[in-house]
Amino acid sequence: MSVKSCQQLHPLDSLATEAKVITLLDKMTLDEKIGQLSQLSGDGGQVSKELRKAIKQGQVGSIINEVDLDTINELQRIAIKESRLGIPLLIGRDVIHGFNTIFPIPLAQAASWSPEIVEQCAQISAIEASNSGINWTFAPMIDIARDPRWGRIAESLGEDPYLCKTLAKSMVKGFQGEYLSNTNSIAACAKHFAGYGASEGGKDYNTTNIAENELRNVYLPPFKAIADTGVATFMASFSDLNGVPATGNDWLLSDVLRDEWRYSGPVISDWEAVPQLVTHGFAFDKSDAANKAFTAGVDIEMASNCYLSYLTSLVSNNTIAIKKIDDSVKRVLTLKFKLGLFESATTLPNNQNNAMNLQHLSIAKNAATKSCVLLKNDNQILPLSKLAITNLAVIGPLADDGYEQMGTWAFDGKAHQSHTCLNALHAYAKDSFKIHHAVGLETSRSNHNDGFYEAIAIAKNADVALMVLGEEAILSGEAHCRANIDLPGAQEDLIDEIHKTGTPIVLVIMAGRPLTLEKIIAKVDAILFVWHPGTMAGPAIADLVFGAESPSGKLPVTFPRSVGQIPLYYAQKNSGRPPSEDKYLALNSIPVRAPQTSFGMAATYLDIHFSPLFAFGYGLSYSQFGYTNIKVMNKLITIGSFVEISVTVSNIGNFTAEEVVQLYIRDLVGSVTRPIKELKGFQRIKLAKGKSTEVKFKLHTDELAFYNRHMECKAEAGHFNVWIGGDSNATLQAEFEVTDEK
Ligand code: NOJ
Repeated sequence: MSVKSCQQLHPLDSLATEAKVITLLDKMTLDEKIGQLSQLSGDGGQVSKELRKAIKQGQVGSIINEVDLDTINELQRIAIKESRLGIPLLIGRDVIHGFNTIFPIPLAQAASWSPEIVEQCAQISAIEASNSGINWTFAPMIDIARDPRWGRIAESLGEDPYLCKTLAKSMVKGFQGEYLSNTNSIAACAKHFAGYGASEGGKDYNTTNIAENELRNVYLPPFKAIADTGVATFMASFSDLNGVPATGNDWLLSDVLRDEWRYSGPVISDWEAVPQLVTHGFAFDKSDAANKAFTAGVDIEMASNCYLSYLTSLVSNNTIAIKKIDDSVKRVLTLKFKLGLFESATTLPNNQNNAMNLQHLSIAKNAATKSCVLLKNDNQILPLSKLAITNLAVIGPLADDGYEQMGTWAFDGKAHQSHTCLNALHAYAKDSFKIHHAVGLETSRSNHNDGFYEAIAIAKNADVALMVLGEEAILSGEAHCRANIDLPGAQEDLIDEIHKTGTPIVLVIMAGRPLTLEKIIAKVDAILFVWHPGTMAGPAIADLVFGAESPSGKLPVTFPRSVGQIPLYYAQKNSGRPPSEDKYLALNSIPVRAPQTSFGMAATYLDIHFSPLFAFGYGLSYSQFGYTNIKVMNKLITIGSFVEISVTVSNIGNFTAEEVVQLYIRDLVGSVTRPIKELKGFQRIKLAKGKSTEVKFKLHTDELAFYNRHMECKAEAGHFNVWIGGDSNATLQAEFEVTDEK
């Protein structure tokens, strides 16, 4: 499980690099220095006169959004051969969940709870992107996301700091490899620093107000973890954090990131976020915005040109010290040296043939398989047996749509290269059963029920209706938030109609976020929640539906019953009046004119149960796993040591299957209140049917540490509960005690 730190540079080379950076810096004019702090957008497969001139004059340090290899090579050639100092370019791109081969969206990858899979997906993304000349990706996005209305939850690794930081380390390792200078390594970027996921009301770009204690205990840990293990760059968030937009937030970018964490890589702004400081009402004009962003700690401006236009005068009038400019330029040049760009910045064309090869596709299929979550499986309807089926009705707008299955932010994937469900099911069926297909609705948002008739007709004659519904790709991702997270359009009506036929329904849901499923859950027999699984969605889903593989994904985020419950996450605080079943029942049946205080008085709603529809960590298997015999080896430990906990996991079902064994703790009393459960360990294991194994966890007290009222991160002495099980509702419990060091 442990991820080695990504060495950006061989230690012996770091002194030599520093010397090279200083030698180069000494030769640079102020304009050339400011050029290194400027990232411009590419021209989409061509080099405009203006861009050529800007590069020649040393006014550009990096380019975003150019993916045509010949064009990138030409841009690099101009920078190296035609600019005065020959400094190569950083070429950035949002390689979020794949480049040519599209892997499951990050939220789906998080559902695999597999650091290995996440690392592999990032590594292949880096191979394919670097073969196209890209040397910098703006990933991983590690904003803790607890509001499913927020479209960017799709790009996140879910609601939990421990799961997020563990997987983020693997993603960075996959992108950056052992050394950034390796041919197929690309620089990663920790984004969006920080708090973006807490946008009020789940509306993108919205204000965030996060108390420092919450910020440090929940939102910052993944950033700190990958700063410590060598992520090459950081991106400041668009959002306003406690009244100071992150892009101009000197406390965040300088006090925390530079001074406290000693982070030395460059920080980039988000797209046009520097001039947006004016829109925020935080800067008077673009010059003030350049000053505020730069002074706060943004080294590189993305897409806009406030730095190019105003940094020179801000230096000449002594608003910004040249030493600060030099420090930022050093960070950029150091990254370019670490990436080996001064040795070779251009890319050989023939490596691109390697894209989407069999190995890449098989890793994509495995990732998709392991990230699907089985939410419901009444009467073990799944897996379907080929032998028991004569006619299979495949219904829904997402069953055969190579584009939508790729999900959000999959710029470079091609729809025609996707393997759809329908195709894969045909390959599965061969001649053994017949497949009838009807979309039912033209798109996931459609309200026209003209297609219902055909869908109902094929369902009536089928043994099973496999419905592939959900959200098309554009309904999640940046700026695509939803106030209502039911199945969109007339999909619920379509389910109603198919339900009326009496044919059992297996519902496959593709979506970029948790959906509220209460209205349809009783009408379907099984639900396989597959997120947006990417290029290999079809073969992965077919394998799961027909039992070649057992589902093993687990939810990285809580599924609410209704949007009214949001925010709803497992690691809540207890409050002084926690909800309970009897209080809920009492509150739910209050007699008319009952006295205000006679029922309940608990932190819950009158009109909905306090539990989620599906809890964090939840996911069914075709098998069943029993958890017994939880043991704490050393029930009394001192701060600075380890507690060892083990459990027996038994496969008591009829399938060989994988299970994600999860360990949660509760710190019973703290100097600040602690969540009722916190994930502190997990292991994905494979067990043959009938077999048992002992799973061991070793937990250092550092993992129990949290920020107290004085913003010191410390583990505190006291009593802890520990649970191990297959989801966050795990009940198998033990205890241990932590005492102060002697
Ligand atoms: C805006 C997004 O917020 C950011 O995540 C992305 O990297 C940039 N645009 C560049 O596309």
